[in-house]
Amino acid sequence: MQYNAVTEDQIKLFEVLIGKSYVIKGKEDMQPYAKDNTEDLEYYPEVVLRPGNTLEVSGILRYCNEHLIPVTARGAGTGLSGGALPVSGGVSLSMDRFNRIIHIDERNFQVNVEPGVINETLQNAVKEKGLFYPPDPASKGSCFLGGNIAHSSGGPKAVKYGTTRDYVLNLEVVLANGDIIETGANTLKYSTGYNLTHLMIGSEGTLGIVTRIVFKLIPMPQNTFLMLATFPSPEQACEAVNGIFLAGANPSACEFIEPEGFKLAAAMLNVNFKIATGVEAYLLIEVDGNDLASLMTECENINEVLNAHGTLDVLFAETAEQKEYFWKLRRSIGEATKHNNVYKEEDTVVPRAELPELFKGVKEIGKRYGFRTVCYGHAGDGNLHVNILKDNLSNEFWNTGLDAAIIEIFELCKKLKGTISGEHGIGLVQKKFMPVMMPPHHLELMRKIKEAFDPNFILNPGKIF
Ligand code: LAC
Ligand code: ZN
Repeated sequence: MQYNAVTEDQIKLFEVLIGKSYVIKGKEDMQPYAKDNTEDLEYYPEVVLRPGNTLEVSGILRYCNEHLIPVTARGAGTGLSGGALPVSGGVSLSMDRFNRIIHIDERNFQVNVEPGVINETLQNAVKEKGLFYPPDPASKGSCFLGGNIAHSSGGPKAVKYGTTRDYVLNLEVVLANGDIIETGANTLKYSTGYNLTHLMIGSEGTLGIVTRIVFKLIPMPQNTFLMLATFPSPEQACEAVNGIFLAGANPSACEFIEPEGFKLAAAMLNVNFKIATGVEAYLLIEVDGNDLASLMTECENINEVLNAHGTLDVLFAETAEQKEYFWKLRRSIGEATKHNNVYKEEDTVVPRAELPELFKGVKEIGKRYGFRTVCYGHAGDGNLHVNILKDNLSNEFWNTGLDAAIIEIFELCKKLKGTISGEHGIGLVQKKFMPVMMPPHHLELMRKIKEAFDPNFILNPGKIF
């Protein structure tokens, strides 16, 4: 697709449309918008626009569509697949001014919110009303809800409560030509033609710009218990995961962590987390609910499973501070790995019972190609984040040779009936691996959907496929 460069006159026009102070130009000022959290990639937009309402977004899109200017939506820039990188230049459409929680509807257990609200801000606001918005990506303290929609973000609680997708009832979306639609209704069920809400979720800004979200909420569980189990081998920890579910437990988090992950996080956070001799893997397991006695029973059942799988030790977090400490360590692993090493992050996911196979395969492939990995993630979902470390590998291998290994990892995911991303999306960096998952006619069907929504391909070009 041939796009047009943004001219000085057009920038002036945008200044009239949304206000001069909301137009960012000049390389230095645009620098934060050239990056996200994906590796060290950097792509500059030609201009950054920070619209303040839906009509302004509509005006921008209508204009850009007529003049063939690419538009890449941007949330908080915490993405891990390069989805917010404006690879074709054009407009970086920052949604940061869409930061209002419009209405918490306590009668219907719903919230009407703008996409530039930070995930944790929403969680805290609804918690004050005794309500719960469960999706909690590791970056919950900074990521925007709009970005969560773009990838159907998950997080530790997805194992019990599902991902972002499971909470979206309705979206206000601006289409590429500037038209505004509501994709659904504020109802718990919807059987009214094609479900455009769910098509929009996970579409990574390629089909439209979300300007308003209606989420469903659930009652806030009153209590949580958190335990940290250690294992002499990662294989035993992975095997224990499915055992927990087979025993009938329903944990609100079930995370697998290799010791190196905790070590890197502790170093970055500058805390003293001691890894006992012989510990080769951790499971961080949480249960939640209201009835303390039944939660205790659930913990005992889980404990039994852990013992049967050779756990070395199970530590119960005693206080809220200790719980927060473990969660902080866990949430920091991705960032800490990036802090410590050049790395590539894969978001593999398989049916839960196949997790041990996946883990074994990843390590075997790493050994054969000669790279180290730090693996951790949402084991209860079968979702293993595989951080491949560059260490002393040559640039040539890193930039080209490694792809063959990643393809092997992804082929294994496919063989196990899993897929190449559970929650981080395809964006830019996983795009080249899509043919591993899907035959050409499948990708062509997606391309036709894209064309129906965005015939000039102005929305986030160069992403997904
Ligand atoms: C996590 C992010 C990277 O689970 O998804 O830490
Ligand atoms: Zn994750």
